[in-house]
Amino acid sequence: MILALETSCDDTCAAVVTSAGEIRSSVISSQGVHDRFGGVVPEIASRHHLELIGDVVDDALSQAGGSLPDVDLVGVTRGPGLVAALLVGVATAKGLAAAYELPLAPVDHLHGHVAAAFLAPEPFEPPFLSLVASGGHTLLARVLDRGAEFEVIGQTLDDAAGEAFDKGARLLGLGYPGGPALERLARDGDPGAFRFPAGERMAGVDFSFAGLKTALLYRVRDLGAEEAERRRADLAASYQRAIVESLALRVERALVRTGLERLSVGGGVAANGAVRDRMASLGVELHVPARELCTDNAAMIASAARFVAALPYPEYLDLDVYATGERILMAR
Ligand code: KG4
Ligand code: ZN
Repeated sequence: MILALETSCDDTCAAVVTSAGEIRSSVISSQGVHDRFGGVVPEIASRHHLELIGDVVDDALSQAGGSLPDVDLVGVTRGPGLVAALLVGVATAKGLAAAYELPLAPVDHLHGHVAAAFLAPEPFEPPFLSLVASGGHTLLARVLDRGAEFEVIGQTLDDAAGEAFDKGARLLGLGYPGGPALERLARDGDPGAFRFPAGERMAGVDFSFAGLKTALLYRVRDLGAEEAERRRADLAASYQRAIVESLALRVERALVRTGLERLSVGGGVAANGAVRDRMASLGVELHVPARELCTDNAAMIASAARFVAALPYPEYLDLDVYATGERILMAR
């Protein structure tokens, strides 16, 4: 069985997955300490990972009914993410693997989000178009096999889709992370109440969300504090619709461009009900993982670990982390 660790941001995660992609356990400890800062503070995240990771790994192993000697491979997120946070996962993974001289598979976080689609009970087989929309990344990739060398054909030029949710939520006075809170508020609102730009005028399959956030800022200002407060749900619903339409438009274009007829959606934003519904309306064969496999988790990292070259002991002892996605995302 595969034990995987994920600590790229503020969730401390460990999971046990079989080589067939069956999830034996997936433990996620959300830190919940960054709310007051309106975003994740790297050093605080790192310290919390350090406090939590031992227990999270123990829980993952015991829930799977196993212990370290039963593990055949250790997988870990190597990047992209917060360096101080990644270091905790990578150092822990090295220690665990070295203790039993196990191989270690370094996993790219975005490959993890794509590889959530390969988990049992209904693994989605390539080729397909993958939309990954998270707090740090928004990309479209042509996935031809299960390895990490997928071809990125479009990505965001500025903010990520999750970031657009988080920043919009902040403007509407909601806490961090803003995506789930904005989705809840939007349920009571009219998505047609306000017109926000969905990047319709921008050709191609790249994304841009910075203008949308500014449009919301101006709209809130124009309405005035009292009216903006009264129409918060309408603002949230209309803003959410613009993000959803911006994603859907580029997915449609990418499907045409690649000739692919199957779509997989992942990343935290894929936990959003409106996103899920809209993608289901596109008329292609669709795979969206369960919500808890869309937001950060270690089961997706274990899934990806199955399809990358693992380093034998002791070759990984000097393995380093990386903050940005440049190592993988070059295939444009
Ligand atoms: O994939 P993820 O858990 O972490 C990163 O790799 O960034 O994505 C987190 C992002 C956050 O921006 C969060 O607000 C957003 O996903 N998110 C959502 C929802 N759940 C999480 N956005 C909209 N609706 C949701 N239900
Ligand atoms: Zn993620």
